[in-house]
Amino acid sequence: MKGVFVQTFGCQMNASDSDRMKALLAPLGYLAVERPEDAELVLINTCSIREKAEQKMNAVANDLKRLKERRPELVLGVTGCVAQQEKEAIRRELPFVDIVLGPDNIDELPWALEQVLRPNSEAYVKTEFDREARVWSTRTELLNPGVSAFVSVMKGCDHFCSYCIVPHVRGREKSRPIQDVINDVKLLVAQGVKEVTFLGQNINTFGKRAGESLHELFYRAHDIEGLERIRFTTSHPGDLKDELIRCFQELPKLCSYFHLPVQSGSDRILKTMRRFYSIDQYRERVSALRQARRDIAFSTDFIVGFPGETEEDFLQTLALAKEIRYDNVYAFLYSPRPGTSAAEREDLTPASVKLERLSRLQKLSHQESCALHAAEVGQIREILIEGPSKKDPSRLTGRTSQNVPCHVDPEDSRGLGRGDLVEVLILDSALTHLSGRLATQASKAEVQSETR
Ligand code: 5AD
Ligand code: SF4
Repeated sequence: MKGVFVQTFGCQMNASDSDRMKALLAPLGYLAVERPEDAELVLINTCSIREKAEQKMNAVANDLKRLKERRPELVLGVTGCVAQQEKEAIRRELPFVDIVLGPDNIDELPWALEQVLRPNSEAYVKTEFDREARVWSTRTELLNPGVSAFVSVMKGCDHFCSYCIVPHVRGREKSRPIQDVINDVKLLVAQGVKEVTFLGQNINTFGKRAGESLHELFYRAHDIEGLERIRFTTSHPGDLKDELIRCFQELPKLCSYFHLPVQSGSDRILKTMRRFYSIDQYRERVSALRQARRDIAFSTDFIVGFPGETEEDFLQTLALAKEIRYDNVYAFLYSPRPGTSAAEREDLTPASVKLERLSRLQKLSHQESCALHAAEVGQIREILIEGPSKKDPSRLTGRTSQNVPCHVDPEDSRGLGRGDLVEVLILDSALTHLSGRLATQASKAEVQSETR
């Protein structure tokens, strides 16, 4: 056996691509290892969504350079979005890299490896979009799936939000056929998976070229025996259809959690971001979802300091965050991305003002998260046990349907294990998690009488 070390940056889609790479390499005798020192093959799966991600990747590249100097036989690969965007720079500045593959070329990895292992071979560089196919054919291959698995159902994006590099590095949107996805989910369930998260950059338009749809996928997945929970990400508010909202009424396996990136609370900024919805329309979608599922939790993404954002615009962002009461807010400082239209705009707001806005938004959203979690105390929530808690292995941990990590008292953990769905009486809360005890008949009766 040989070792492969894969370092992943960025989103869940990248994490899922990394899993696929490991699975593709297993038949060639490569076993995933935890440290680059133990590997014969090192892959960096990169992300270019914001500048910070690229900086992190550069730091790793320096470490790899040293590693390669010590062990010239080591094979190095750079994959993912930075590979797509910066292939020339990588070839120039990191000439010791053997393999460069864009996100659309990852399935070629075994072939690339075979090529570069030949004597006197050159680097293998491929960053071509697959322009021909109407659908995306791939398989979800996971070597050791836990109880919860990510399943990529589409790739690319047809929106061109003015700040976003995704369509430039991942190409136009392509979906997998529903039947292929369902076959994968059945295989995962047979391996013990209880929860799937369907992944797509703009998942609301899943299947549009093939006359299929996300809600159809949900109904089909819901029928799979042994699958307990369905999640999905990421949604574009402008593409969120009534049929999807109805799923929250009709499909109990669909979790009570919705990540709905709004990006800004100001209509003016949304227009210049090319988001194609107004705050009123966003509000209406949120309330329709709340009507369909009373206990639904929301999270969102905000970009702070977009070119032209005034204090007034930013106050509208704060007001929206307060009004919606998000369980979780991901707030990012705007980062100009090469080749995007926003990067051309004049940006006069000083960095110090942007940073101060970011910290105001973060402070407000932490307060909201704490308050929402505190309100969970005394409630009974169902959690799917994922295994021992990382911090305190005597406690088991899982997530609520609302996607909040929740720990179970060690005294109650006996006899329980990965994959169990249990009801927990919430006793304590914090910014990022909850904790509690297994709910007994008595605690359930008490909670019921209080809510009556
Ligand atoms: N600058 C800052 N944040 C960005 N995002 C995407 N592009 C940029 C950018 N150029 C954020 C958006 C998106 C999330 C995945 O990353 O909020 O929803
Ligand atoms: Fe980027 Fe999402 Fe906009 Fe597509 S919809 S361009 S992935 S922000």
